[in-house]
Amino acid sequence: MSKPNRRGYSNNYRSDNSKHNRYGKNREQTSDDTEESAAQNDFQTRKQTRGRPAGLSGKEIGLYYKDLAMKKRSGLTGACSSASRSSLRDTKYFSLDPDVERMIKSSLETVNTSYGKGKILTIVGDKPKIEDKYTHIRDSEFKRNFLNIISISIQEKLAKSMSMKVKLVKNESLDEQLKEDQKLRKSAPEYVKMMDFRRKLPSYKMKEEILKTVDSNQVVVISGETGCGKTTQIPQFILDDAIEKGNGSRTKIICTQPRRISAISVAERVAFERAENPGKSVGYAIRLEKTEPRDYGSILFCTTGILLKYMQSDPALLDYSHIVLDEIHERNTESDFIITLLKQVIPKRPNIKIILMSATLNAERFSQYYELCPIINIPGFTYPVSSLYLEDVIQLTRFKFPPPPNAPTNYKKHLKPFKEKQKQFEDFNDFIEPALRQMEFEKSYPPYVINELRNPTSEELSLGLIQALLQHISETKETGAILVFLPGIMDITNLCKNLSASGRFPSHKFQIYPLHSRLPTVEQKLIFKIPPAGIRKIIIATSIAETSITIEDVVYVIDCGKTKLTRFDAAKNIEILKPEWISLANARQRRGRAGRVQPGVCYHLFSKAREMTFEEYPTPEMLRTPLEQVILQVKILQLGRVDVFLGSVMDPPEEKAIEVALNLLKNLNALDNNETLTPLGYHLARLPLDPRTGKMILWASMFSCVEPVFAIAASLSFKDAFYCPINKEEEVNAAKLKLGLGQFSDHIALAEALRQFEKGSDGQTRRFCSDHFLSSNILRLLTEMKQQFTQYLYEMKFLDSSNPSDERANKNSHNLEVVKAIVCAGLYPNIAIVQNTGSFVKLKTVEDGTVKIHPGSINAREKKLPTSYVTYFLKQKSTAIFLHDTTCVNETALIFATPQCLIRPQGIRSIITLNQSISFICKQSTAEIIKKLKNELNQLLEHKINHPEPVKWESQEGDVLRAIVRFISQSNGGEEENAAK
Ligand code: CDP
Ligand code: MG
Repeated sequence: MSKPNRRGYSNNYRSDNSKHNRYGKNREQTSDDTEESAAQNDFQTRKQTRGRPAGLSGKEIGLYYKDLAMKKRSGLTGACSSASRSSLRDTKYFSLDPDVERMIKSSLETVNTSYGKGKILTIVGDKPKIEDKYTHIRDSEFKRNFLNIISISIQEKLAKSMSMKVKLVKNESLDEQLKEDQKLRKSAPEYVKMMDFRRKLPSYKMKEEILKTVDSNQVVVISGETGCGKTTQIPQFILDDAIEKGNGSRTKIICTQPRRISAISVAERVAFERAENPGKSVGYAIRLEKTEPRDYGSILFCTTGILLKYMQSDPALLDYSHIVLDEIHERNTESDFIITLLKQVIPKRPNIKIILMSATLNAERFSQYYELCPIINIPGFTYPVSSLYLEDVIQLTRFKFPPPPNAPTNYKKHLKPFKEKQKQFEDFNDFIEPALRQMEFEKSYPPYVINELRNPTSEELSLGLIQALLQHISETKETGAILVFLPGIMDITNLCKNLSASGRFPSHKFQIYPLHSRLPTVEQKLIFKIPPAGIRKIIIATSIAETSITIEDVVYVIDCGKTKLTRFDAAKNIEILKPEWISLANARQRRGRAGRVQPGVCYHLFSKAREMTFEEYPTPEMLRTPLEQVILQVKILQLGRVDVFLGSVMDPPEEKAIEVALNLLKNLNALDNNETLTPLGYHLARLPLDPRTGKMILWASMFSCVEPVFAIAASLSFKDAFYCPINKEEEVNAAKLKLGLGQFSDHIALAEALRQFEKGSDGQTRRFCSDHFLSSNILRLLTEMKQQFTQYLYEMKFLDSSNPSDERANKNSHNLEVVKAIVCAGLYPNIAIVQNTGSFVKLKTVEDGTVKIHPGSINAREKKLPTSYVTYFLKQKSTAIFLHDTTCVNETALIFATPQCLIRPQGIRSIITLNQSISFICKQSTAEIIKKLKNELNQLLEHKINHPEPVKWESQEGDVLRAIVRFISQSNGGEEENAAK
């Protein structure tokens, strides 16, 4: 006989999206509910019970105090007593529904798993062979690949791959054929026309010198102004020269780009110049999209990420004759990484050619890194660009900055924010005064300009000033597109809004385009189009438009002088994103964008004095970001010890950052204590995802909740599909709440958004997206990513279908408690402890103390949260420490998500310690069950990771998983099955 769900609310993922009791408290009250309700209301009740766990009956209270007194006498302080003293020592009473407990117990009794555990290594002395550690894994393709990776160093691997068959072998008839094709191409009218254009590029004049230098050196650095023809011409010079010399069959060039959009647009451009379509002598490969060229006599443009992926299976890059690394001045982690790697490949591949290309760079530094290889400088070609600075712009627009905020008269002036601001103003004053005195002395600018420069707010981003300047240019300057550089996406959105609201930029006179990395590729393409006569194009971009995207018709550049950079605070393990002054190299780049087709003007919105304080070059990304993914790549490429390899890059990261990342990976069990990849680490390194998100999708496939969790993982690793128009924060929040299914979870809201989006027809989805502030382009990409993840896991053998909606892969997708628990397991140890004060929610984490929920999160406006814990993906420090995305999780999810928990008896009860700040007190029988469950779970996961295959729900594996699902959802929904048996 089946009993009603005692919690009284349905977790139906598919349909029920409205009528949840948001606090889950409308369950039937029965006598044996006491402990459970106590656990739920623990925090409030604990205050009334002066530190003693709530929910104890009369006799138990007595026993509790007796216990405590004994502890105190013996000098021990139990978790419980310290809970009342330190707010970060969080101990709650935990209980399971007795029915659920009974059922889990009975189903575990019948489980008798033995996964054929191998011998445990206890050899002391002689170093055991790495294979010995994994004798318990059955022979399989996985085992062979895994052992291959962890037991061979890159040097051995490189040596081994030398004896492998090289794809590029000389084939004379092919060479002849390619020569013939080339001759024919040269007479094609489209080609001839493009040739006229190409000949005029500065790089063309250097063609012979470039070819000669590449021919006689293994590594060459080429630098030159943006637009001089490095990216589009140099790979073509090399290819055509090889073809004409009868070497086409042995030539394949790979050219890396730091961004997806530039890989595609450059490939299309080069194919066009060659009077072809991509797919013949030119192609591209980016994540999720590719049109590959033929295997010989061709150029492949790809992202740096793709080249890294290739190197995992072919470290010596045997498929290629030339490696062109473009835009290396950007110093992103992936390209720095390839630069280091290639240094090890060079001695093993004496015939491979490496060409390092960059716009304005510190060419000598790269040359020094490569044993003083030659540098070719392509002399600049841009038309002259005149530079104006903030002082000139003020003079032109007569713009007035708002006055700095008055000093508060009340107690606030003693508070930190005000004091910080004050200090900032003083510093500014010290810096600007000498420059202003000089200007006054030279009488170079009128007094009102100098007065404005004296105002500290003149150094803050002013969208008003930009609007005034745009008006000034449109009214007084000749035709030509305007490119505006802003620090972040939010600023771009705001400026677009302001311009359209002002009514001064009507669409019959202006085309206004935002341009940033979060735009889908299709929308980005529109920006290249030249508008009809009489319409001025305004592009509002992030630093993406600095070097990699060429917009032909730009004549005016407005440079706000700032960029948003993520910095990683290794000590606190926090990413900080804030606008910072750009470097001189960036400023030079931005200026250069104005002189592409004719002489141009660049308006820098910082003073000449400020420019003198700029750094010469931007900080390498590796020094600004967490390193887990890089380390996993180091490991899967078998580059040996992380500290040694990362110590040999151009600008090594801080040892502390390496340590933090190594610890995270060890905590995730991706690396063992010897820093060797574990089987889990091996799987994670092969997924192009943050390791935590990777773990999340692995677990989701084992627990059969693929659709929602893969959607969440896609969004975490790509971008949020919700957007927030200015002043619509409340409406966006309401829309999210509708999709949140009463779960207090940004992650669930996103999964539900994607589910509804996918099931709707075209017209419906358009309406759905606009009603819910969702970007249909992003949702479409998330759907693709979800499919891609499913494909990966299918290939890795964790799923038996590559269809994300496959029924077997979604047995538990409707069970939102399971979905949240898996999200929590993936995000662990990102947990914050909730303290409902009654009128607002207080959150704490072990590392930071008080943290806040970001206003964009579904939970930001809640006065009370239904669970004692919140899990999150991104923590960022700006005005406070914010958790950007949050999901409320309960005790069972947390116990499930914690890799190891310590269980020990205390009096008549047991203490379950999850980590240094969270523990639970519970009945001994409950603790026993948890112990057994965790044991079974860990064994099963270990077994599955070592023997990738889809879960067999009909076998004992299924029994264990079902017991865990019951535990997580605290439901006895499985009783029907039991009764039926
Ligand atoms: O790499 P670099 O910045 O030196 O120049 P490039 O990307 O090779 O571009 C050379 C020239 O080709 C540019 O000045 C543009 O005039 C033209 N080009 C284009 O019209 N469309 C593209 N998608 C790329 C380049
Ligand atoms: Mg380029």
